[in-house]
Amino acid sequence: MQALSSLDALKDFCFTDRPLAQLTTWGVGGVTKCLIAPRDKHELAAAVKTLSNEGEDWQTLGGGSNVLICDGVVNIPLIHTARLDNVTVMAKPEGIFIDCGSGVPLKNIFALALRKGWSGVEPLAGIPGTVGGALIGNAGTLGGSVSDAIYRVSMIESDGSETEKNASDIEWGYRSSSLASDKNVVSGAIFRLERSTKEKVLEKSKVAVEERKSQPIMAKTAGCIFKNPPGYSAGKLLDDAGCKGITVGGVKVSERHANFFENFADCSARDIVELAKLCIKKVEDMFGVTLKFEIKTIGFEDEPFTS
Ligand code: EPU
Repeated sequence: MQALSSLDALKDFCFTDRPLAQLTTWGVGGVTKCLIAPRDKHELAAAVKTLSNEGEDWQTLGGGSNVLICDGVVNIPLIHTARLDNVTVMAKPEGIFIDCGSGVPLKNIFALALRKGWSGVEPLAGIPGTVGGALIGNAGTLGGSVSDAIYRVSMIESDGSETEKNASDIEWGYRSSSLASDKNVVSGAIFRLERSTKEKVLEKSKVAVEERKSQPIMAKTAGCIFKNPPGYSAGKLLDDAGCKGITVGGVKVSERHANFFENFADCSARDIVELAKLCIKKVEDMFGVTLKFEIKTIGFEDEPFTS
């Protein structure tokens, strides 16, 4: 990382030596030398432009629900989107439009829709994380994905300019989107919902809630840790290979769903990596399939277990 003085333009919203564990659902991670937490899209634009001009590598951190951050010191700057939390509702004859910052928790959008009886985000009930992270990974459940309810997405490009993309111009895949890039950051999105009733929204959301009953939602996890290899379920492979309950340090493979690692006793990132290694080996030995991380990693010299 360049000397922090080169980031002087960002000093009003740049924090040094910030502990990161509390910014993740796993509760794991060391300390970052530079956490940039813009309060609006102008500050986000200044951050992206400055980092790009300085030739800095950087990563974006949203709700911390799908990441593994290394122990010790994270050397690259992180842009934390949590304070991009604006929400504006526009009721139009053709629908309800919710304009929000990328740092808004997805659960707030669902809660608002449920309270008002607006339909469209029922499949997102119970999904952790922020709007930005959900868009990058096209989060969803069996009932549908975030892409189904999106009207438009705004991004800050590396030169600090803002671009807008209609949902139809974005390529949406299963838990992926063409938005993912290390050169730009999602600044916000507009959801388009339909007028309905609270009762109907609640009823429709039960499918997603039901689906999560097989998962350890009360434990400290990062959601599913490995991708499903084509034609397989990672959870089933791990279960059949006898991984459930295996423990390394303070982390164990969930007894409820084997593709979740539970931090039950203040585990380290190293514990998680070691447990992942063990599980990968067991699945390889039994089925000849190599599991890859679905979670994103931050701060590791050699990115572990990515494709
Ligand atoms: N299974 C087992 N043992 C286990 C876990 C699963 O036998 O320990 C079996 C299940 O009984 C089922 C099959 O494996 O027959 C598939 O399991 P599940 O329905 O739980 O779905 P999944 O493929 O494991 C995916 C997503 C989840 C999402 C669910 C439901 C991935 C990597 N995971 O899991 O997403 O919640 O479908 O839509 O795509 C996440 O992205 O963080 C996540 C948890």
